[in-house]
Amino acid sequence: MRNISLCTLTALLLTLFSSGAIAAESEPQKAVLVTGANSGIGRNIAYRLAAEGYFVYAGARSKDDIKELSSIRNMQGVRLDVTVQSDIDSAVERVKADGRGLYAVVNNAGVVVVGLLAETDESELDFLFDVNVYGPYRMVKAFAPLLIESKGRVVNISSMAGIMSPPAYGVYSMSKHAIEAFTDTLAYELGTVGVGVSAIEPGPFNSNAAASVCERRLKQDHDASQSLMPALAAELDEICNATAKYPEPDAVADVVLQVLRSDKPKARYLAPSDPQQAEFIARNIVQQLAELRSGHYYSFSREELIDMLDDALTAE
Ligand SMILES: NC(=O)c1ccc[n+]([C@@H]2O[C@H](COP(=O)([O-])OP(=O)(O)OC[C@H]3O[C@@H](n4cnc5c(N)ncnc54)[C@H](OP(=O)(O)O)[C@@H]3O)[C@@H](O)[C@H]2O)c1
Repeated sequence: MRNISLCTLTALLLTLFSSGAIAAESEPQKAVLVTGANSGIGRNIAYRLAAEGYFVYAGARSKDDIKELSSIRNMQGVRLDVTVQSDIDSAVERVKADGRGLYAVVNNAGVVVVGLLAETDESELDFLFDVNVYGPYRMVKAFAPLLIESKGRVVNISSMAGIMSPPAYGVYSMSKHAIEAFTDTLAYELGTVGVGVSAIEPGPFNSNAAASVCERRLKQDHDASQSLMPALAAELDEICNATAKYPEPDAVADVVLQVLRSDKPKARYLAPSDPQQAEFIARNIVQQLAELRSGHYYSFSREELIDMLDDALTAE
């Protein structure tokens, strides 16, 4: 009887090994660092990755947030202000000391400012670029050796504003266009040593961003009637009265997972929150192509343009 049950057990184990069930379980847990993980999109990504079995270093700035994030299974809160080099250096040391390595950095932390470009104070640009552009740059510089060691991933949370530039969000769009350039060059450079680099372009999702931007704007004393563009300035004042509701950013976390699981991630992924946004972005890019097709020395025909599009679709 004892022999029979041992045989049965052996057969069961062999079946599990050959089906890959045990092999998959024993794969080392991949670690991912997410910046700005206490709120909105970053929080959604961090919780989702932890639930999917990744070990998440969840960057946050307040003690309470770090404590809360650390209480989640597969998650460790880390103090991380992306404008403070000593925070970044400590995070690198922490990750190294833990000995898990690091498979990916998700550069999510970001801020928004609104205002008309010709009237925006330079300090607003400094504030926003310090977080949205220099932040990811500092993070990649600091974590590149660990990412190269793991042949890992950099995921930059950009925005649809990295592709088009609406009025009032000029400074924000400038920063996200910079992230697009950062992603493209980094993808070439780190690609040579096995690291995949991607940008994700979310549409509007529920987060704390709208409240933060309004709080910042309302602190400043704007008088639309004194603006160089009074009609536009008056419209801008209404931004903070908007009551539009957006979905939770689950779709962004889906795309992050897709990038982490892909052997060959693309340079950019759209994460719209409705189908109109997807079409709007595609039309915007096609419009740029149409503008650049002619009006210069080496213009090309509609047929040549369509051939180029077919080539690009084939290469995808
Ligand atoms: N929500 C959208 O509709 C949308 C659309 C497209 C792109 N995005 C992008 O998604 C990212 C996340 O934004 P969100 O919408 O989720 O906004 P959010 O809820 O306001 O979250 C922003 C996060 O960034 C953190 N952060 C701000 N300054 C930081 C700094 N100096 N160092 C480290 N962390 C900092 C915030 O931490 P604190 O709480 O401590 O301030 C917070 O965790 C941003 O890059 C944003 O541009 C958002």
